[in-house]
Amino acid sequence: MNRPVVLSLGSVNVDFQVRIDGTPEFGTTLLGRDFRRLGGGKAANVAFLARRLDVAAQLLARVGDDDLSEHALAPLREIGVDLARTSAVQGHSTGVALIAVPPDGQKTIILAGNANEAWTRDDASEVVLAIERAPRGSVLVVDYEIAGFVVEQAVEAASRRGLPVVLDPAPPDRVDWRLLPRIAVVVPDASETEHLTGIAIDDLAAGARAAGILLERGAQAACVKLKGGGCVLAQAEQTVHVAPVPVEVIDTTGAGDAFAGALAVALLEQRPMVEAACFAAAASLLAVAGYGSQPAYPTRADLEEVARQLEARTEILHQK
Ligand code: RIB
Repeated sequence: MNRPVVLSLGSVNVDFQVRIDGTPEFGTTLLGRDFRRLGGGKAANVAFLARRLDVAAQLLARVGDDDLSEHALAPLREIGVDLARTSAVQGHSTGVALIAVPPDGQKTIILAGNANEAWTRDDASEVVLAIERAPRGSVLVVDYEIAGFVVEQAVEAASRRGLPVVLDPAPPDRVDWRLLPRIAVVVPDASETEHLTGIAIDDLAAGARAAGILLERGAQAACVKLKGGGCVLAQAEQTVHVAPVPVEVIDTTGAGDAFAGALAVALLEQRPMVEAACFAAAASLLAVAGYGSQPAYPTRADLEEVARQLEARTEILHQK
């Protein structure tokens, strides 16, 4: 198999999702509705999105040895994600995310990582092997909802092979800064950016400043995702604003994973960075317009159409 692959390393979960009408408070009960049990997890969502766009994808992840694992893996298997490097950890539960979606769509997630945290040194060596054997032109996407040492070894292996790495720095308190010089594109959201740089992303100028700091710390490119959609893309030679088109926000769950997955697909297809950022931002905008992560992910045709609209709206903020 010589077709390049999106290698997706990170979490795979079952998402238990409800809509709520109020704001949760500790010590109280809130009624939920529209319950769904969905396949989720950041790496699983990335791999699903890549397959939705008809690109080969392999998931590098761990599930438990329980009945939930099948709920997490079935949608991935169905869409054709390669699960040869996704294995079950004996004596552990599959990762579980409890997700509440209020009327404005800005979800809250409580995550029990479970098997996602149960990696051994041998498992990490398997990941390194998968990266070493991946077809030329493949792209690695990583998140930090798994044991950090696995992410670090994977990034080092990809760097030795010259494969681009997309880093979703979530959760941000786990990120090892020393990895940034090995990262092709880091893709934090506004709150992760604030955590990583100390800059509150209240406006475009703040987003551009923070993206610049991520470049100074070694990333080849930084895409800071903005609260209302769109992003700031900083590269050595220029900083660009990808302005969003208006969409009705139903549920933001998995929008960041759609961004990372679409960006990886665009890099694999060797698109120029600005075009890749528009493609990623379009995937994220379309993902928020539906309920749940994977069920809301767009088709290639819809994605290309919105990406074209975004390309027409890009604005250069700074040029060297
Ligand atoms: O980014 C959304 C994902 O984060 C959910 O699918 C959930 O499982 C958590 O990992």
